[in-house]
Amino acid sequence: MKIVILSQNPNLYSTNRLVEAGKKKGHEMLVVDHGKCDLVIEKKKPGLIYQGQEITGVSGVIPRIGASITFYGTAVVRQFEMMKVFTAVESQALVRSRDKLRSLQILSRAGLGLPKTVFSNYSRDVGTIIDNAGGAPVVIKLLEGTQGLGVVLADNRNSAESILEAFNGLKARVIVQEFIKEAKGADIRAFVIDGVVVGAMKRQGKEGEFRSNLHRGGSANIIELTDEEENAAIKAARAMGLGVAGVDMLQSARGPLILEVNSSPGLEGIEAATGKDIAGLMIKYVERHAE
Ligand SMILES: Nc1ncnc2c1ncn2[C@@H]1O[C@H](COP(=O)(O)OP(=O)(O)OP(=O)(O)O)[C@@H](O)[C@H]1O
Ligand SMILES: [Mg+2]
Repeated sequence: MKIVILSQNPNLYSTNRLVEAGKKKGHEMLVVDHGKCDLVIEKKKPGLIYQGQEITGVSGVIPRIGASITFYGTAVVRQFEMMKVFTAVESQALVRSRDKLRSLQILSRAGLGLPKTVFSNYSRDVGTIIDNAGGAPVVIKLLEGTQGLGVVLADNRNSAESILEAFNGLKARVIVQEFIKEAKGADIRAFVIDGVVVGAMKRQGKEGEFRSNLHRGGSANIIELTDEEENAAIKAARAMGLGVAGVDMLQSARGPLILEVNSSPGLEGIEAATGKDIAGLMIKYVERHAE
């Protein structure tokens, strides 16, 4: 079958691995830059033009949409849906996963464990926000942050207040979260495909660092999840409506707490840590659902 990978960078590890895994199974693999697609919309005949050519005969799409191009990328995914093409990540679920507030509301409604979190509309009453997050120490996160940048641990109330005031002054939107110290600078990434955890790793921050991000010098190792962790990961992916998801969790005294559910989880870290052919499993997922 013909499978499209929506990716802005054909040189990325994840893109390469998906192309390779698809070819190995005899599929025609096409990398399409969603940022350079034209969408043709007319009555009952949705079309998609890429590099001057109409793209037809596609059986499945694997979206790898970066956060900076969520809006247009989602429109491209939706166009494929209108063309009755199976997509590994639905446009609706993609949008949902990119909205941190909405994601946490959905996960909370599904009954999943979460670190206590406060969102606010630049409230000046920073003391109350800190209290509602359970009091210092708290973790303060820039909503636009990624790879651990913009994630700050405020040890005491004074520093929490001044950090919040500083961010407020810059009109930067933040969330304030209960600090889970039992996590000991580590988090878990569970890779879920079609309701099954296909691989999991534990990321440990470097000495003296509470953030486990590999970009901040952390390291990753394969981990055997407890039943509770496995169920939480599956439930989180399902609540978000994601067929493929990277579920990040903290291990706490009250069980697993979901940090985030990623709709374009990277393959490099998880394949290296687990030694598994995750790309091949993603292709199998598409095979099962596409015609
Ligand atoms: N509430 C918390 N308690 C303890 N540690 C935390 C907490 N929140 C985050 N961390 C640590 O900090 C790391 C970075 O936080 P987080 O994943 O929320 O932000 P990010 O990686 O910058 O953003 P994103 O994952 O959305 O790209 C986590 O992987 C985890 O190790
Ligand atoms: Mg993270």
